[in-house]
Amino acid sequence: MNYLITGGAGFIGSTLANHVSKENFVIVIDDLSMGKEENLVKNSNLRFIKGSVTDSELMDEIISKNTFDYIFHFAAVASVADSVERPVDTHQVNFESVLMLLELVRKYQKNLKRLIFSSSAAVYGDEPTLPKKEESAICPLTPYAIDKFAAEQYVLAYNHLYGINTSAVRFFNVYGPNQNPESPYSGVISILVDRYKKVQTGEDTQFTLFGDGSQSRDFVFIEDVIQALLLIADKKESLGKQFNVGTGNAITLNELIAVIDKSLGIKLPIAYQSERDGDIKESVSDISRLKGLGYEPNFNIQEGMDKYLTSED
Ligand code: UD1
Repeated sequence: MNYLITGGAGFIGSTLANHVSKENFVIVIDDLSMGKEENLVKNSNLRFIKGSVTDSELMDEIISKNTFDYIFHFAAVASVADSVERPVDTHQVNFESVLMLLELVRKYQKNLKRLIFSSSAAVYGDEPTLPKKEESAICPLTPYAIDKFAAEQYVLAYNHLYGINTSAVRFFNVYGPNQNPESPYSGVISILVDRYKKVQTGEDTQFTLFGDGSQSRDFVFIEDVIQALLLIADKKESLGKQFNVGTGNAITLNELIAVIDKSLGIKLPIAYQSERDGDIKESVSDISRLKGLGYEPNFNIQEGMDKYLTSED
């Protein structure tokens, strides 16, 4: 099979690319703004193209000259804060590129088995009803969330209108190896792991906790995310639909830190700061729709963190 993975040098994209390239041909396109080429395991089945999904000539060339079975569109400016700072620029990447991709697929990829678009739990915003079901109220509050929701709706409409095989996923808080901890808006677990490593090597460091640590999130381990993506890509029942990808369980930051402290036998030094602007208090997914396809998360937070921490050494 032939795969195109945009944003394929990033955290989720590279994990998927490394997994599927064991037995399939994969083209990865990534502008390396957040992703890293080293995330990709060298393999003759995998071709890396450095470029942006906003480059219409490049995208036209890739999509007109190859036949793909599966396309995963992960390329995005993942930082919500960045979208608030630069709404026009991030709109090009987070929305325009999707519409362009859909048109190219409509033109050239008549036999595509599935296009999967990565949306986000951000589309639910701060509407307080929990757990979030796919049909829950949508309340996108930032350019990032608005673009994700609009693009997701286009992706699904291309199924209904033109018969293109599409699905979308709404990721909750994904964690695991190769998540870049370098920005303050990186996933909190990647930042935590970075600080724990510094403590282990004797560096003077602390973790900045925004708020009192009682905020909770549905943290889903990358291997479960890969399971979900492959299932959705292969099942007929998922056509034209969006799926929450989480575990269905939430944990507070305080509980999370206690889990890692215990696993590593370390007491992480914490500096408390006031709550981050726009932070939501609680987030948890309802994954019944995904479970209907046969998904069952294999990792609770303890199991996921244990695997993550041992794989980092
Ligand atoms: C995540 C997404 C965000 C999306 C939102 C929608 C990431 C990185 N962020 O944000 O794009 O809009 O879901 O549901 O995927 N925290 C600290 N210290 C830190 C970093 C974070 O205390 O150094 C706190 C945050 O203030 C927050 C919690 O940890 O309360 C989780 O933060 P984060 O990993 O950024 O995830 P979300 O806030 O859920």
